[in-house]
Amino acid sequence: MGLFQLSKKKAGIGLDLGNKWIKTVRLTKKGKKLELNKLGRTYLKREEIEDKKKLREKIKILLNSLSIKDREVSLSLAGHSVIIKRLKLPKSEGKEEKLEDTIKKHTKEHIPFDIENVYMDYFIIDNPEGDSKNIEYFLVASKKNVVNELKDFIEGANFKIEGIDVEGFALCNCFEYNYPDYISDTTYLLDIGGVNTIFCVYSNGMPLLIRDISLGGDQLTDVVKQVLNKNFFECEKIKINGFSSVAPKDKILIQQKMEELYLTWIDEIQKIIYFYISNNPENKEVENIYLSGGGSLSPKLKEVMEEHLEKNIDFLNPFRKIDIPIANFDLEYIKSVRPQFAIATGLALRNFI
Ligand SMILES: Nc1ncnc2c1ncn2[C@@H]1O[C@H](COP(=O)(O)OP(=O)(O)OP(=O)(O)O)[C@@H](O)[C@H]1O
Ligand SMILES: [Mg+2]
Repeated sequence: MGLFQLSKKKAGIGLDLGNKWIKTVRLTKKGKKLELNKLGRTYLKREEIEDKKKLREKIKILLNSLSIKDREVSLSLAGHSVIIKRLKLPKSEGKEEKLEDTIKKHTKEHIPFDIENVYMDYFIIDNPEGDSKNIEYFLVASKKNVVNELKDFIEGANFKIEGIDVEGFALCNCFEYNYPDYISDTTYLLDIGGVNTIFCVYSNGMPLLIRDISLGGDQLTDVVKQVLNKNFFECEKIKINGFSSVAPKDKILIQQKMEELYLTWIDEIQKIIYFYISNNPENKEVENIYLSGGGSLSPKLKEVMEEHLEKNIDFLNPFRKIDIPIANFDLEYIKSVRPQFAIATGLALRNFI
């Protein structure tokens, strides 16, 4: 689902403008298969995030460095800039009119601003274990000015928007394309970014719940900063490159504090899981959690989650069903960073699915 429909093309570029890093993925179609054609990421310093001119420059530098010549890119909207609601409509309502019209009327009550000022999309949730008296649907609405601002921003960098998707949906798209064998199971997806985390419940080909949680890898960099007393950028580098340059006693302290923080994250996640379960008691228990986002690469996070959440935890591989030409990419590098590209890949995939 997307706020704009796309035409089918030979290449798709996803540009994930995160709060901390820009990620881009270019996919091309080779016969029936998709191939990874380009992949790149760049860190954003605070002044680059706050200054639109600098941010545009950063995007241009990244895409130029990858020799990406296309001018059309797909972007995402963060969860907080859209309204995502799972709503119920009695099946008996509006039988004599088109479902689309009934949904539009029904939806008006759930949007806190004038319907004329929003872009809206919806899809029906096919939840066989759910309630049979109501039609359930997912509503996505975004204020037109938010979308228009993003459009102006990207056009100012000489790009055009090919499609816009909500981050949570791009994440689900990425999972759906790459894990067709898991589609009938219910799965939790967790994209841990720099400041935000997206939690999705994905089941039978669609999301059942999408939640934003205010936590992310920045908090871990802050832990490093507290212990080492260096600037944020240096601490970010130290965190990502491992702690080989850090004195053993500081390393132990950092690891200890990081693990304490992980436990607070797990607590937050557990609360949402309980919320989901208590609202969907008829649904089967979820066994698998797929982690993505740069924050998921934090040392020992997966292991600590495994221990406390008692689920099968794995990293989401955005290229599980996408060919990677070995002559053009360092596979070891791709393997070490690929969860961070889940949303960018989900966006790029919109051109093909
Ligand atoms: N190898 C790594 N080890 C540990 N942390 C990492 C690694 N690579 C990236 N990160 C962390 O991932 C975070 C950035 O992840 P990501 O790019 O998914 O976030 P973002 O999309 O920019 O942020 P948000 O989703 O909050 O808008 C940063 O906190 C960064 O330090
Ligand atoms: Mg992100």
